[in-house]
Amino acid sequence: MLCLGLEGTAHTLGVGVVDSEGRILSHVSRVYRPEKGGIHPREAARSHASQVKAAVKEALERAGVDLRDLDLFSFSAGPGLGPCLRVVATAARALSVLTGKPLVGVNHCIAHVEIGRLLTGAVDPVTLYVSGGNTQVIAFEEGRYRVFGETLDIPVGNCLDVFAREAGLSPPGGPGVERLARQGRRYLALPYVVKGMDLSFSGPLTEALRRHREGEDLRDLCFSLQETVFAALTEVTERAVAHTEKKEVLLTGGVASNLRLREMLEEMCRARGASLFVPPPEFCADNGAMIGWTGLLAHLHGVRQRVEEAVVRQRWRTDEVDIPWRR
Ligand code: ATP
Ligand code: FE2
Repeated sequence: MLCLGLEGTAHTLGVGVVDSEGRILSHVSRVYRPEKGGIHPREAARSHASQVKAAVKEALERAGVDLRDLDLFSFSAGPGLGPCLRVVATAARALSVLTGKPLVGVNHCIAHVEIGRLLTGAVDPVTLYVSGGNTQVIAFEEGRYRVFGETLDIPVGNCLDVFAREAGLSPPGGPGVERLARQGRRYLALPYVVKGMDLSFSGPLTEALRRHREGEDLRDLCFSLQETVFAALTEVTERAVAHTEKKEVLLTGGVASNLRLREMLEEMCRARGASLFVPPPEFCADNGAMIGWTGLLAHLHGVRQRVEEAVVRQRWRTDEVDIPWRR
């Protein structure tokens, strides 16, 4: 069975063709980059709308299949930015009506976990999903993916991006902060905020920016910001591992590229007898293949949606989704 998945929760328009054996036949991404500042949802949506037809065509060509060969369409139904979600939902409905083939809306956060499990071989991990738009610690328990911890304010990738932007580094912020952090020598204490199992990054961000304005060394600040926020992420992940007694940790999302974060998680896993898994970078970032694969899992396990039910859910929570394929 062949599925074409459409991702469009934020910056990335992704199209992927995947088969029911878990083979990724193609994946195509078009990333919207604002000229300055953060993301403008309507502009991103306009960009996605102008590219979606060409991206679908390219994904089909690269996969060597025709529109008529597809058996299923899936799209990121949420959580995400409304205007962007509506573009891919509309495209999926149009493709479904045109071909007479079914469609299914997929939860974006769960798709990150499922493509990670597929590509790394992790079976039942605690997942740390860290990106510009999300920060969640997720694990499967009692039929659902539960959120063990999450940010109470901004996502960790956004924290790094805003710091980098205000400090004059060129985007994307995360890699710039990582590069400078390697040259940092002094740890400057920043607020370390873990509340129960949840996290907060606006405190360390504000303080790091204040010290930047006071003329503190930028390399030391990047180093200190990373050490602080990654330690907090590692702590919450470790507590989820301890609580669930799982032996695998899956790191995904754009921030998963960061080598210092990986190092901290490696160390934590080693101490707990667990293993760390990280998918290849193009599948840590938002991509269409993850939506295609999760759509297949849902469809093959009986999830059905009529075209008129295939709507977007901007605030769709990870733990609201039934997961029949893991029963
Ligand atoms: P989502 O919709 O899942 O929230 P996104 O739009 O933020 O995704 P991604 O490509 O998953 O897109 O993640 C981008 C984020 O990853 C940015 O915040 C970027 O700064 C961060 N990032 C990328 N590389 C690194 C790195 N080496 N270190 C830290 N952060 C990084
Ligand atoms: Fe994502």
